[in-house]
Amino acid sequence: MAIREILEVPDPRLKTISSPVVKFDDELKTLVDDMFATMYDAPGIGLAAIQVGVPLRVLVIDLQPDDPDAEPEVCNHGGHQHTHQPTLKQPRVFVNPEILEPAQQLATYSEGCLSVPDIYADVDRPATCRVRYQDVEGAVHEEDLGGLMATCIQHEMDHLEGILFIDHLSRLKRQMVLKKLDKLRKAA
Ligand code: NI
Repeated sequence: MAIREILEVPDPRLKTISSPVVKFDDELKTLVDDMFATMYDAPGIGLAAIQVGVPLRVLVIDLQPDDPDAEPEVCNHGGHQHTHQPTLKQPRVFVNPEILEPAQQLATYSEGCLSVPDIYADVDRPATCRVRYQDVEGAVHEEDLGGLMATCIQHEMDHLEGILFIDHLSRLKRQMVLKKLDKLRKAA
């Protein structure tokens, strides 16, 4: 597993429309492993292949990156007390994902992106969606996603079309955000 370089705005490669994966081979598995290593290292909760310069329709997501210091959680639902393990890694891979049924209802999350470091902004997206995707072996799956997972996969799927979350903002807001990013980079 290797950590790869993450492309950042305004790298023009981030505007690439990614191609479908047709070969479910060892090269794909290496790409996925490297994408997880890169995402956990950053750290982030989602990464599209184009963010490491590979124009293929591959996403990795983990909403619960491991926290080695997390205490077990004591929980009281269902009328009896029990203990949950601290959050554990839940790596998810989506190859050639498609959204089948986006909800009418929108949800707003403050989004960020490893390609737009240190910038966060509210984006509205369908609150739930049904997704069809393939795994690294090429098997097809369908799944209903909601909450942060729905937002995250839609954000990552935008990358496959060359779209960043800041492209959902007004032109004025986007310019402000890019100026702020410029300032942060100069200060660093
Ligand atoms: Ni992103």
